Amino acid sequence: MDAFRIEGGSPLSGDITVGGAKNACLPIFAACLLTEETCVIENVPDLSDVRFMAELIEHLGADVKQAGPNKWAITAKNISSKAPYDLVRKMRASVCLMGPLIARLRYAEISIPGGCVIGQRPIDLHLRGLSKLGCEVEVKNGYVYLDARSNLHGNHVFLGGRYGSTVTGTANILMAATLTPGITRIDSAACEPEIVDLCNMLVKMGAKIDGIGSHSLTIEGVDKLNGCTHHVIGDRIEAGTYIVAGLFPGNQITIRGADPSHLSAFIHSLEEADIKIDSDNNIHVTGHAWRIKSKEIITLPYPGFPTDLQAQMATLLAVTPGISIITERIYPHRFMHVSELQRMGAHISIEGSSAIIVGQESLSGAPVMASDLRASAALVLAGLVAQGETIVQRIYHIDRGYESIDAKLNALGAKIERLSSEELPLKLAS
Ligand code: EPZ
Repeated sequence: MDAFRIEGGSPLSGDITVGGAKNACLPIFAACLLTEETCVIENVPDLSDVRFMAELIEHLGADVKQAGPNKWAITAKNISSKAPYDLVRKMRASVCLMGPLIARLRYAEISIPGGCVIGQRPIDLHLRGLSKLGCEVEVKNGYVYLDARSNLHGNHVFLGGRYGSTVTGTANILMAATLTPGITRIDSAACEPEIVDLCNMLVKMGAKIDGIGSHSLTIEGVDKLNGCTHHVIGDRIEAGTYIVAGLFPGNQITIRGADPSHLSAFIHSLEEADIKIDSDNNIHVTGHAWRIKSKEIITLPYPGFPTDLQAQMATLLAVTPGISIITERIYPHRFMHVSELQRMGAHISIEGSSAIIVGQESLSGAPVMASDLRASAALVLAGLVAQGETIVQRIYHIDRGYESIDAKLNALGAKIERLSSEELPLKLAS
């Protein structure tokens, strides 16, 4: 398993461009199953999760090929209805296949996705919503069997859960409803920018959707959808990750390719920082020693502070004077990064679903272990600001959601070396 060796303390300066949003691409790839015509998707990041989703829809029978750099062409003429365990277990977002398969085939057999380290990943809201549209739902032998062959109809679907709405659940019901006869109204729908991007693509395909960007979506089912060409929005989480890098003292970077309005809560939480947005939506960040103040952060569904930037913010606050508190309202146990940051000298304690952080002058480099996508991003950021050498192991986690993060940061002046598993013991031994 590959690792990163990071030499901390190198000043960062220059421009960095984010790729297309992973969490928009995944449901958008699934949406290509809604038509037998060709969909061309542009600004697709080169990520293992995206390649995996491509493998999954190809397994279902779609013709999937790369049509150029960061560009894919997908044609789902004849597709099957079964997504097997050995494929689905690798990525939670595979659940996004349920909606398109019900819309297109009126039947689906989807393995229940495994759990993951960030917390419970139930799909009860997805299944409740699909059953409202007329699906007979049966769960057995680790699979969900969805059958709407006798009765698929528009309905009122409420997607609110204990922690707010469900992003992929909204994507599923939305995609199913586009080809479901009648009117479907989704209340307590997620309104993340990635859902808006999916809606915009579906409208290009001929879907009839009202309320885009709100928590209430109304969809009038149509008989068929057409192919389209769609350019995926920039990845706001990748952009937020690089904003944190720019805020470390002595750094001055510009982040291109994202829409800053998709990061309002995050940027607002850093209002004392030197973050400027120009007329082209480029984000200019200057890190001043100790300008950042301690803060209380609570993660919430969009437009609240994004849970996917919680770990990265913890790294920033670990070197920010004062006592900060981060409360995780979406995944109450999403703190796998904390014990690794503690190995680097961070003073963080966990109280229930909150992390209490006592800012330190600096962190010290150490061998650490990545556990999930955003925790590994937090550890890379910690390695950049720490004194000395950090080895981040199991960086396959980061390759899921950050295209070429080492090359992009090295272009700014970082010193990150990708080590193969053969090289790793030598480095750890020295
Ligand atoms: C999406 O996951 C993102 N993934 C996650 O990003 C992100 O953290 C999450 O939304 C929240 O913003 C993709 O879009 C592919 P949820 P999703 O269903 O849709 C509860 C990353 O790092 N819930 O919105 O799977 C659930 O327990 C990933 O890029 C139910 O109770 O998340 C959680 O507390 C990690 N029942 C909350 O809702 C359900 O049926 C949010 O889950 C579904 C969800």
